[in-house]
Amino acid sequence: MIGIDDLAMATGTYRIDLAGIAGRLGADPAKYYQGLGQTEMSVVAEDEDIVTLGAAAALPIVERAGRDQIRTLLFATETGIDQSKSAGVYVHRLLDLPPNVRVVELKQACYSSTAAMQFAAALVARNPAEKVLVIASDIARYELGSSAEPTQGAGAAAFTVTADPALLTLEPAAGLFTTDVMDFWRPNHRVTAIVDGHSSISAYLEAIGGAFDDYRAQGGADFGAIDRFCYHQPFTKMARKAHQHLAERSGIELDRETLAAQVDPTMGYNRRIGNSYTASVYLALQALLDDQADLSGERVAIASYGSGAVAEFLAGTVPDGYRSALRNSTNEQILADRPQIDDDSYLARQRTMPRDDPSNYTTGHETRGPFRFAGVRQDQRIYQAAR
Ligand code: HMG
Repeated sequence: MIGIDDLAMATGTYRIDLAGIAGRLGADPAKYYQGLGQTEMSVVAEDEDIVTLGAAAALPIVERAGRDQIRTLLFATETGIDQSKSAGVYVHRLLDLPPNVRVVELKQACYSSTAAMQFAAALVARNPAEKVLVIASDIARYELGSSAEPTQGAGAAAFTVTADPALLTLEPAAGLFTTDVMDFWRPNHRVTAIVDGHSSISAYLEAIGGAFDDYRAQGGADFGAIDRFCYHQPFTKMARKAHQHLAERSGIELDRETLAAQVDPTMGYNRRIGNSYTASVYLALQALLDDQADLSGERVAIASYGSGAVAEFLAGTVPDGYRSALRNSTNEQILADRPQIDDDSYLARQRTMPRDDPSNYTTGHETRGPFRFAGVRQDQRIYQAAR
């Protein structure tokens, strides 16, 4: 049995209530709260990036697992900071991991964390003593003033894939779907993504549907034999849309209560963090596991989507005794502790990118996390412990 043994998260230091940007965007806050299913989004401090968020998420995991146990670190992101060097190598140093570790970065929009999980599972199948650390870390940025702006966010999920996992035992069937579509992308010269919002929703639904059909063809469970569904959540309403889509495809008429029970407990963190791209579906899983309900023995699906587009649908079972491995009170604390900022302060932060001189700059000390990005000197990024 192989799967997820430990799971932790980190997010930006600040939060903004979406009502705080609604006036400037000429929208009723209800459009964001109900229409998109989002209440807040996390905003990063000047000295935070995907490395500091990823390392912060992974720190409690390596402290629990033991540094010598990790032999592979897979870093999934679409907020790359270098065309060559993996963000994971900076994290490897910040976490004080030993040198005998394989480190690599993976990219395919929001999907690559799930590819990382599958690659990790294959490594563990070959050597069951191995623990693989997967880190998914992203900062979602769209043009200010665009309709995509309320679907930004920032977050990281870190997890270990091991034999005899404590949190989720993966089943072998996996459904895949790839199609070359321009729904969302970010060329190298841009800080913000280009997106065709409404067609991205159709592309997502088509890809998740295709992945689910393939999952069934590969011997995966019936829709009716899956208890809970963790979807990629660019905004949490998307999970409901996807669930209805798969139910219709499976010829199942979902009543309100069933839909709410199968999907809503996965939304608690993403509703407050916003889109965290690669981390989003694993924050959905974390919210579900942290929820009060006892999920022992239940089958949980992971439906992963990355624009461009690749989707994967797979499932796993929650082992007995999983609750003792959770970090629910820490996770709630992380979200509750974020100071709220107003629209002016948020806009000032968003406008720091791109830098006038990207080869040399210093950042102010703001983060509340364990690591900070101190700036760039002669094109070298400087990372250090924050406390
Ligand atoms: P929009 O056009 O401003 O919004 O942009 P809308 O007019 O479609 O309204 C949104 C919802 O609010 C609708 O609900 C309205 O009815 C409702 P729906 O019909 O869809 O159920 N609404 C209201 N509800 C209550 N009170 C009101 C009210 N007014 C309207 N007063 C859009 C929305 C999501 C397109 C935009 O924010 C966007 O472009 N976001 C970015 C793209 C995105 O998130 N796409 C999702 C699929 S692609 C994906 O997930 C991949 C991604 O994560 C990237 C990656 O893979 O790397 C993005």
